[in-house]
Amino acid sequence: EKGGFEHFMIKEIFEQTRSIKDCMRGRLDSQTGRLVLGGLREYVNKLVNADRIIIVACGTSWHAGLVAEYFFEEFCRIPVEVEYASEFRYRNPIIREGDVVIAISQSGETADTLAAIELAKSKGAIIFGVCNVVGSSIARTTHAGAYTHAGPEIGVASTKAFTAQLTVLNMIALIVANKKGTITEQKLHELLVEMENIPSKVEKALQLNEQIQVVAETFKDARNFLYLGRGYNFPVALEGALKLKEISYIHAEGYPAAEMKHGPIALIDEEMPVVFIATKDSSYEKIVSNIQEVKARKGRVISIVTEGDDLIPKMSEFTIEVPAVHEALMPMVSTIPLQLLSYHIAVMRGCNVDQPRNLAKSVTVE
Ligand code: F6R
Repeated sequence: EKGGFEHFMIKEIFEQTRSIKDCMRGRLDSQTGRLVLGGLREYVNKLVNADRIIIVACGTSWHAGLVAEYFFEEFCRIPVEVEYASEFRYRNPIIREGDVVIAISQSGETADTLAAIELAKSKGAIIFGVCNVVGSSIARTTHAGAYTHAGPEIGVASTKAFTAQLTVLNMIALIVANKKGTITEQKLHELLVEMENIPSKVEKALQLNEQIQVVAETFKDARNFLYLGRGYNFPVALEGALKLKEISYIHAEGYPAAEMKHGPIALIDEEMPVVFIATKDSSYEKIVSNIQEVKARKGRVISIVTEGDDLIPKMSEFTIEVPAVHEALMPMVSTIPLQLLSYHIAVMRGCNVDQPRNLAKSVTVE
């Protein structure tokens, strides 16, 4: 059942080439310009005309929501708020006419997310669901939605569900942007082509596996880790840190790189591994300065960069090169080495990667 892999988690990490492709199958075709999500059709105008989008989710799904915030705001020009379902539901949130809710959940059974949906529904909001499990409670409660079609995710740490969530959320945003006219035909075409190329870029990122094992071996006994990114890679930093802490039990924090100087920089010494997700994008120059700041304090820099970068490798103890991709789609690629890193560290520490202590696959308790 693990298809020759030692754990479900690593099997599921390697499945991503296929799961992302499956997620786009029949829905996206750059040649014909096809871009459809059947489950969206009836309510899609609610999204197109939305004054605000509120995304509710927990954990890794919440991180997918953060990436979507950047994506929707950039291409649809609709303000987005991303909420922890548990915080949203308990504070008498403001939901106005014109607000649309998107709930993201792999299992479709997360109690807080379900309760947040019910609350928003009772206040008259239209709810879209992005779920992986077909027929799950959340899928049934929402007005409309799209499945991620990543296939069953058994490992407790969410991996292929995350990249499939990003794929679906990007497709939703591009449909809306196209209908709203906030994206040019040319830009849309360019992004559709880029989306179709993601599976092969993920495949390339997976080939970093052996190289990442060397990094894992070097840092497996670290007591802390810091993950830093900016822009679209900021949620990737949060996700990288979550993956590491939940399966290896190493304390890890993810931060927007610019926030470092407001506190976390105090943590940096010669023992602190700092993972920079520093691919070539609009914040590249800025993150280079952040790397310098960490170097100046003797932090141990591990960088995820775009292939061909000749600057950051000179500043890093370890460099991991991922293929170039449009910055808005980079999280689907830049997250791969971080999944692999946490997996290998956890295995080297003798942890039960598929069933980490204290965690359950569906959190049906509040
Ligand atoms: C992290 C992880 C959890 C889930 C969270 C939400 O790897 O698995 O943080 O992402 O419990 O679960 P779903 O997406 O099923 O609502």
